[in-house]
Amino acid sequence: MILKQWESVDNTDRGEKILIRKQLLQKISSPYILECYAGYGVIYRECYKDHPCVGLDLKPIDDGRVIISIDNRKFLKSTDLGKYNVFDLDAYGSPWQQWLIILKRRQFKAKESVAIFITDGLDFKMRMSSLPSGLRPYVGLPAGMNIPLLNLHHDFINSLVVSGSVKAAGLEVVHALSAKNPRCNMKYYGLILKKCN
Ligand SMILES: C[S@@+](CC[C@H](N)C(=O)[O-])C[C@H]1O[C@@H](n2cnc3c(N)ncnc32)[C@H](O)[C@@H]1O
Repeated sequence: MILKQWESVDNTDRGEKILIRKQLLQKISSPYILECYAGYGVIYRECYKDHPCVGLDLKPIDDGRVIISIDNRKFLKSTDLGKYNVFDLDAYGSPWQQWLIILKRRQFKAKESVAIFITDGLDFKMRMSSLPSGLRPYVGLPAGMNIPLLNLHHDFINSLVVSGSVKAAGLEVVHALSAKNPRCNMKYYGLILKKCN
């Protein structure tokens, strides 16, 4: 498994989130998007409106998009994910539970490229010196053990989670972009994954 070095994206007025998506979307043939945190549709309007796209959200949304009101974890665990080749995890909090479900359940065909976009606001939990239980095995952190100032290692921890879970799924990262917001408490990632040969 090769984990490519993250390439950073410039902090521009257009927004790092949007830039990452636009750059990597070009590398996906016939994108079919599952937007797991549909929200107000900012990213949809900037990036996805010209492609088939299904949005998920806990709250009902009626603005002309195709939206299913559901907890995204329930959807990801119970639906055939094969038709989606772009997964958008634009969470305010931690998207890693959803990431792990996708990696476990999405079956990759040979040579197929799948993009996953992530917004990670886990920093707050890390400031409290803790990590969600599902991430602990990737970092070697036993249940119940908390480490002060874990947030100082946020990028490294995310790299461990990505590389460990991608490897466990028999996949490799062929493109990786990253950025952060000006306050540095949100991380933005874009990854293109393929099945290992
Ligand atoms: C950061 S906003 C998404 C912004 C959106 N991507 C946009 O471009 O406007 C987060 C949204 O995710 C929804 N949400 C939070 N947890 C969720 C979950 N477990 N399943 C589905 N939707 C969820 C919230 O209701 C909220 O609308």
